[in-house]
Amino acid sequence: MFFSFDLFISSAILQQKEGNIVKLIRVKDYNDLSKKASEILLKKVKNSQFLTLGLPTGSTPIGLYKLLVQDFLRSYTTYEHVTTFNLDEYIGLKPNHPNSYAYFMNKHLFHHIDIPVNQIFIPSGITENPINQCDEYEEQILSHGGIDLLFLGIGSNGHIGFNEPGTPFTSRTHVVNLDEKTIIDNSRFFKNINDVPKQAITMGLETIMTSKEIILLVSGKSKAEIMKALLDSEPSENLPASILKTHHNVTIIADESSLSLID
Ligand code: GLP
Repeated sequence: MFFSFDLFISSAILQQKEGNIVKLIRVKDYNDLSKKASEILLKKVKNSQFLTLGLPTGSTPIGLYKLLVQDFLRSYTTYEHVTTFNLDEYIGLKPNHPNSYAYFMNKHLFHHIDIPVNQIFIPSGITENPINQCDEYEEQILSHGGIDLLFLGIGSNGHIGFNEPGTPFTSRTHVVNLDEKTIIDNSRFFKNINDVPKQAITMGLETIMTSKEIILLVSGKSKAEIMKALLDSEPSENLPASILKTHHNVTIIADESSLSLID
């Protein structure tokens, strides 16, 4: 394994495998992570005629979305030419349910910028036929020419989107039974752990991998163990995020506490 990581520089080529390079941008803390991510995203938004973004939910991207909203208020960066596809949604929650990812995205981003509503795609949690909807989601992504830039967070068990350990690397958008660990982790957003949905719809790992560029955001001590496992492991379906090591254009932005177990 080629491993070059210097604590004193913020950007390093982390791993090179069969021509694929994983770039690591090491930042001090959550604020710096959000700032770096917003700079990359805003540059793309400003320099593209049309842009298709893939967007995550969870605590990690909240700082990024806050900075995008601040930028919109100050600089009026337009999103009229941007289409977005969210990674996932809980099954059983209506878009106006405070724990749905649709609600989350409206609250943290979409209601505060000028993106046209018909350019926002999020899987529906209340569709009568989830399987059909998965196929439709794939087609919608394809008909927009694929995702240009996809942001991801990581679950403490290594999931990306809601692709839990054991998900085939060849998976496309699908219905998933959530891991017990994911239900426990995500119960912090719900009144009661029994309220956490047991199923979700998620972009598959192969869907994620068709994105032209991927940025993985990792912050906090609770992610230190999975970061170590991710950096140490060969690509394996037991650690879904490890598939990213085989992508040709992936950057990990990680803060110091998430890297605290890396020598
Ligand atoms: C959820 C989402 C993932 C997200 C993960 C980590 O399970 N489905 O897309 O990456 O949580 O969330 P957090 O950023 O809160 O640690």
